[in-house]
Amino acid sequence: MKTILSADQLAEGIARLADETTEYYQGRPLTVLGVLNGSIIVVADLVRRMDLPLQIGFVQANSYRGAATEPGELRISLEGLPDIQGRHVLIVDDIFDTGHTMTALIAELQAFQPASLRCLVLLRKHGRKAVSMEPDHVGFEIPNEFVVGYGLDYKDAYRHLPYLAALEQHEIRSEALLPEVQSK
Ligand code: IMP
Ligand code: MG
Repeated sequence: MKTILSADQLAEGIARLADETTEYYQGRPLTVLGVLNGSIIVVADLVRRMDLPLQIGFVQANSYRGAATEPGELRISLEGLPDIQGRHVLIVDDIFDTGHTMTALIAELQAFQPASLRCLVLLRKHGRKAVSMEPDHVGFEIPNEFVVGYGLDYKDAYRHLPYLAALEQHEIRSEALLPEVQSK
């Protein structure tokens, strides 16, 4: 694994995003809507630095199935969605890769008539965008590599790493994390 962003660099990026959004919303009450599971650490660190009256909610989106590092079918669950009608909503996700997740989420959430709907991503992967929208707030641009840590996973591992690292090709192919798959 090769470190892409250190814990200190991530903390600086989060502070910058918190300042940017605090400035943008100018004291207006905000609902921060995290996209599970990848956004948990970004949300936890970001909201503690935002100087705004805010509520926190979560929705779930899944596109990476099992061992795949390419997106599969996208599944969205709005089960945990708080009441967002008439509220300013900021969707927070770990990474904007193709942009399909964010585009689909925005389309679904518009139906709940929020006062405004914007999005923030910690990372944006270079050269992968397949949609017309742009995220409103971006922490870091990263190269087109599969990254883990700070909330991002590979087969549900590595989310707890305090830094962001790129997996090497052999680590992506290795089945070491799932011995039961190996034995089949
Ligand atoms: P998109 O719909 O292609 O923009 O993909 C967004 C989702 O894919 C993110 O919320 C992540 O969960 C996942 N994802 C994309 N790239 C990576 C990566 O490099 N590592 C881990 N997860 C990723
Ligand atoms: Mg995700």
